[in-house]
Amino acid sequence: MGYRVAVAGATGAVGREMLTTLAERDFPADEVVALASERSAGNEVSYGEDKVLKVRDLASFDFKGLDIALFSPGSSVSAVHAPRAAKAGCVVIDNTSQFRMDPDVPLVVPEVNAQAIAGYTKRNIIANPNCSTIQMVVALKPLHDAATIKRVVVATYQSVSGAGKEAMDELFEQTRGIYMNQPMKRHRFTKQIAFNVIPHIDAFMEDGATKEEWKMAAETRKILDSGIKVHATCVRVPVFIGHAEAVNVEFENPLSYEEATAALKNAPGISVIDHRADEGYVTPAESAGEDFVYVSRIRKDPTVENGISMWVVADNLRKGAALNAVQIAEELIRTYMRKAA
Ligand SMILES: NC(=O)c1ccc[n+]([C@@H]2O[C@H](COP(=O)([O-])OP(=O)(O)OC[C@H]3O[C@@H](n4cnc5c(N)ncnc54)[C@H](OP(=O)(O)O)[C@@H]3O)[C@@H](O)[C@H]2O)c1
Repeated sequence: MGYRVAVAGATGAVGREMLTTLAERDFPADEVVALASERSAGNEVSYGEDKVLKVRDLASFDFKGLDIALFSPGSSVSAVHAPRAAKAGCVVIDNTSQFRMDPDVPLVVPEVNAQAIAGYTKRNIIANPNCSTIQMVVALKPLHDAATIKRVVVATYQSVSGAGKEAMDELFEQTRGIYMNQPMKRHRFTKQIAFNVIPHIDAFMEDGATKEEWKMAAETRKILDSGIKVHATCVRVPVFIGHAEAVNVEFENPLSYEEATAALKNAPGISVIDHRADEGYVTPAESAGEDFVYVSRIRKDPTVENGISMWVVADNLRKGAALNAVQIAEELIRTYMRKAA
């Protein structure tokens, strides 16, 4: 007997990747329901190699009898419909920022804090962290276990798919427009993104940080350790898929380059590719479509007593969103809601 699963936001960048990931990993689903706005109702989306699903309107969908719903329809939509699904008895794994800091909602990266899933019963909702946070905490966890992290300074290089399918179209259209000498059109981004970089993701806050930068700090503390200080600068770059991060970490205790590398190599979900030579590191283009968090350019930071710098890359739509959510669902059914065979 399998599970009845819904994917809300199924026509979006994350939702499509969720359907692909569920099919690729043979998630034990008897039924998968694709949900989006009423604009898309009746359209079709692919599920695996040879199946298509008819999209249904989230607003009028009754979640009764569903076991798990993977949500990515945007925060304001999740705010209304995730609690409605949860109330109908369906466990919601939500990708938006809506519930991440709710003390009654676990914020989970399975390689880091799978045990936190147990708290889902309070609201029947589990939150998936921000894409930049996920790949960073996967890399930080083994280092924190080895030498206790005090402070992290990170600069991100985030792809446009992190802002959804329309943002991907905008990079494509602007790039084409430049070659064809057409006027620049902006919709999703505050400045030109083609052949440019933008040091601004999400809204500005009172202290001058952006919300994306705040999320990286607050979410890392909730997932990994409330004692870790994080200072982030988040930047959008003209890359379609794959986020990169230059991460500088300061530790309580000494940690050699060899110890840091060994800890990272032995950790789940990480692939260390670090050859200190041409092509001896991973870039976002190579991470697209892959499940690993890649770590390259590991080196001591000689300007502090105990410091390491590294380059962390992952596919933001997979580990940064869909894969992490499906891994949570897998752990949920393995440990908490196993059905009789
Ligand atoms: N992209 C990433 O790397 C990433 C990573 C982590 C978290 N997230 C979060 O996941 C969410 C979705 O991101 P995305 O990149 O997939 O965005 P997207 O490509 O713009 O897709 C948005 C999805 O939400 C649906 N939707 C919009 N308004 C709706 C409504 N009123 N009712 C029902 N469905 C509605 C859309 O359906 P229609 O096609 O019918 O409009 C579409 O399926 C955002 O909250 C984002 O912050 C994204």
